[in-house]
Amino acid sequence: MKIAVFPGDGIGEEIVPQAIAVLEGIGKVFNHQFDFQYGFIGGAAIDRFGEPLPKESLATALLADAVLLGAVGGPKWEGLDYSVRPERALLGLREQMGLYANLRPVMLFPMLAGASTLKSEVIEGINLLVVRELTGGIYFGSPRGVEKYEGHERGVNTEVYTTPEIVRIAKVAFETARKRRKKVTSVDKANVLEVSELWRKVVTEIHKDYPDVALSHMYVDNCAMQLIRNPRQFDVLVTTNLFGDILSDEAAMLTGSIGMLPSASLGGESRKTGLKGMYEPIHGSAPDIAGKDVANPIATILSVAMMLQYTFGLDREAIAIESAVFEVLKEGYRTEDIYSLDNKKVGTKEMGRLILERLKGHRG
Ligand code: IPM
Ligand code: MG
Repeated sequence: MKIAVFPGDGIGEEIVPQAIAVLEGIGKVFNHQFDFQYGFIGGAAIDRFGEPLPKESLATALLADAVLLGAVGGPKWEGLDYSVRPERALLGLREQMGLYANLRPVMLFPMLAGASTLKSEVIEGINLLVVRELTGGIYFGSPRGVEKYEGHERGVNTEVYTTPEIVRIAKVAFETARKRRKKVTSVDKANVLEVSELWRKVVTEIHKDYPDVALSHMYVDNCAMQLIRNPRQFDVLVTTNLFGDILSDEAAMLTGSIGMLPSASLGGESRKTGLKGMYEPIHGSAPDIAGKDVANPIATILSVAMMLQYTFGLDREAIAIESAVFEVLKEGYRTEDIYSLDNKKVGTKEMGRLILERLKGHRG
């Protein structure tokens, strides 16, 4: 099982080693061999090679079954042109690897209900999945740029979706919903945008092949409101690249901390049983807390569980990781982002070590 590892920038360098230790723990308990290939991307690659996604790193990613990524970016590289910013590495990997489907599960660990800014009775029992289209829409559409226009400047980006792009993401949403509560909410802005009108039409068309799944449509502004009003109504949310970016951050906060949420970006087939994928926490590089051993490694550790499940088809192993995380939280251990009085505050490394220890108690 070939895994490309890109810690990236900021807290990426602290959380990724914890996730690797957990994978190695899984290897020992369940008797698997993982082959890790390290590479530089983002600011770390800019500093060494002058570009965010060096050819070597891209090649490593393309040859692997799965990619584990920490985070990219930081104030140091903010002044750079868009074409060479750290974020380009992420967008480049998504595009080059054809990772068109981004799955962001939003689940509340019950013992963290108090860590959310929302009332417990609103968030208890939430379990939703954001299926975000990841290689199209306004992130990649052209024309784009800033140009001189009638004596002033004009900035342009283009939201564009083709039928095949909508078809394949809709299928992912319906297929995934089948394994869950069989409910898909498609989010668009069809009251204003033509591109949304096409999105809605195509999703409705594809739905005919999934009569066992319930489909509803929702405007994005309403969805933003419904997510904090009554998030339990949602099972699978399927939406565009930009809307998914925004709504998944909002949804993440329902769980108390963005430091808890993993993600999988899926596309082409892997040589193994599952889908080729890139796995990363949904949070960023958090430069303000980088290097202080306070970042929460759980999102990255849970991303590794998703990797085992989706790319390698190792469901038992994935569940073992999730159970270990659950146990450690139940025992009251918390990183700073989810800490409240009466809990035991631990750092990044200690949190990783505790999860690994619970994992080793597990029988393969
Ligand atoms: C995300 C991030 C990225 C995105 C940035 C870092 C380019 O916010 O994965 O949600 O906008 O897709
Ligand atoms: Mg985002």
